This record gives sequence, structure tokens and C-alpha cells, in this order.
Amino acid sequence: MKSLIIFYSLEGDTKFIANSINEELEGDIVELIPVKQIPTTGFKKFLWGGKQVMFKEKPELQPISADLSQYDLIVLGTPVWASRFAPVFNTFLENNNISNKKIALFCCHGGGKEGKTFSDFKEKLKDNQFLGEIAFEDPLKKDKEGNLLKAKEWIKSIRQSF
Ligand SMILES: Cc1cc2nc3c(=O)[nH]c(=O)nc-3n(C[C@H](O)[C@H](O)[C@H](O)COP(=O)(O)O)c2cc1C
Repeated sequence: MKSLIIFYSLEGDTKFIANSINEELEGDIVELIPVKQIPTTGFKKFLWGGKQVMFKEKPELQPISADLSQYDLIVLGTPVWASRFAPVFNTFLENNNISNKKIALFCCHGGGKEGKTFSDFKEKLKDNQFLGEIAFEDPLKKDKEGNLLKAKEWIKSIRQSF
């Protein structure tokens, strides 16, 4: 089974979970990086990020080189922004046609839970099979070790369902 993790992370939480999952999968991993990064300090990040979600923006991404057709399992990971996936995924999903894949979803949130994050992904990726989804609350700040184990156990159970 060949796996690919695609994630975005502004402050490291989603990256931490993506890397933890990949320690189990030992597959490929791609970080979505916007050409223009939004500020990470103070309240500005909420203004910029919230605006991007509200206006359904598609921020330009740095090029990625993965050929999605090669993979059996695709894992998508995002922080929750205004109860939805981060807008970089608007760009990614528009530029990449994903169908007939097995997909697993994870997100990191700040306590408000996943909101519409997973349902929006499923709506946009209708022609795929979803194997599971899981949410983490600020894993770098809250129980890092527990979240690492949670991520590994989750992906092991996904892999077993193959
Ligand atoms: C623009 C923006 C909007 C956010 N909106 C939410 C939200 O609606 N619900 C929530 O629980 N957390 C929200 N958060 C918090 C992040 O989802 C949370 O801190 C997450 O762990 C950050 O992941 P990262 O470190 O990979 O960027 C928001 C953060 C930002 C920057």
C-alpha cells in the first residue's frame, strides 16, 4: 500500500500530527505552502485567515511534485479555520482531481471541534471512499504525547481496514 499525506499547518500542530502519522505509514508527505504566508502573530492571523475562509479564497500555492495517481491511500490534514478546512485546500482541490481513492481525514482545532471541516472535504471529494476521520485539540500545547499515540493508533486502524 502506497500512502501520501497532504497537510497544511500555520503553527505546527497539524505538521506534528502529519509527521506522527507518517512514522507509522512510512509513505510520502507533502506540505501545502502558500506563496504568501499569513501572519502568525497575535490577532492578525484570525483576521487574515477568517477573511480567506469567508471569501472562499484560493491562495496561490508553492508547486508540489506528487503524482496523486500513484497512491492507494491519501491522508488529508488541516487546521480548523472558522469551522472549516484551511483555504489552501480550496486551491489544492481545484488544481488536483482526486477520485477513486481511499481517503482518511484529520484536523487540529483550538477547542471548537471540527465544525464543517470533514463534511466539506467529503462534499468536495464525493467520488472517493472515506476510511476514517479524527480531530485533535491543539496537540502541541495539550497532551503532546497522548496526541502522538492517538494519531498512531488511528492510522494503524485505518491501515488494517485495507
Ligand atoms: C484563522 C484561524 C481560524 C481558526 N478558527 C478556529 C475554529 O473555528 N475553531 C477552532 O476550534 N479553532 C480555530 N482555530 C485554531 C486552530 O484550528 C488550532 O489552533 C490548530 O491546532 C492550529 O493548527 P496549526 O498549528 O497546524 O496551524 C483557528 C485558527 C486560525 C489561525
